[in-house]
Amino acid sequence: MPGLAVIGHPVAHSRSPEMQMAALTELGLAGEWIYGALDIAPEDFEAEVAALALEGEYAGVNVTVPYKEAALAMADEASEAARAIGAANTLSFRDGRIVADNTDAGGLLRSLPHLPEGERALVLGAGGAARAAIWALVDIGVEVEVWNRTPERAEAVARQLGARAVAEPVAAEYDLIVNTTAVGLAGEDPFEHLPLAADSFRPEQVVVDMVYGEGPSALLAAAAAAGASTVDGLEMLVQQGALSLRIWTGAEPSLEAMRAAVHR
Ligand code: ATR
Repeated sequence: MPGLAVIGHPVAHSRSPEMQMAALTELGLAGEWIYGALDIAPEDFEAEVAALALEGEYAGVNVTVPYKEAALAMADEASEAARAIGAANTLSFRDGRIVADNTDAGGLLRSLPHLPEGERALVLGAGGAARAAIWALVDIGVEVEVWNRTPERAEAVARQLGARAVAEPVAAEYDLIVNTTAVGLAGEDPFEHLPLAADSFRPEQVVVDMVYGEGPSALLAAAAAAGASTVDGLEMLVQQGALSLRIWTGAEPSLEAMRAAVHR
């Protein structure tokens, strides 16, 4: 029975096992495949992943915080996206070899209501999630500007990935705004910590907030109130997970089944 899992530290809160099992069940593969969660301590990471790849019991894993960079570093082969982003959220084990992918990038694009080719985007943040978003958007011809609390990080990331750093963005000027920062996770007011105002959104805009919790974030609530289209972190979770499952099984999972599972 091919095994799959999400690996991270901590990982108990992850919605991936339920979501991926719902997708496998809908595909009629639940008797054949199993998807679990493995909490791996930092000192054990390399040895555990090497063992998973060699044992042959696991077909692959999703990788979450804090191991996405370490996962890429262990790979024998990596997709262009994973290499450019510098992180992998998907590993496949093939004949003892480790193949790395990054489906966070494609997952972001698939979660958008339309492909923003040729449009202008503002990405907030400069960590791993920001790198995946910036790379994905630049790759399809979006003009991307990056704002970060620590401006030096925005400048470095923008330079590397073909975007531009911006110190004082005017939110209304962008077609797409993507928040990849942790602001809102602990209940912070996004309008205090991010260069956005509650009344700065327009109906033509698409606003993405990777933060998710119970109900819409304060950022998305304000964007929706202004008539903008919104995308939350759960939709991104679903889309990246669906792409990963397709890599491992070759099958096209049901997004509806996955959405139902993450909203439960
Ligand atoms: P990830 O890999 O998930 O993107 P990360 O690398 O820890 O995580 O990045 C977190 C991002 O959230 C960073 O851009 C961070 O800004 P700094 O580079 O200045 O640290 C941003 N962030 C976290 N807390 C923030 C806050 N209170 N206000 C603004 N930005 C914040």
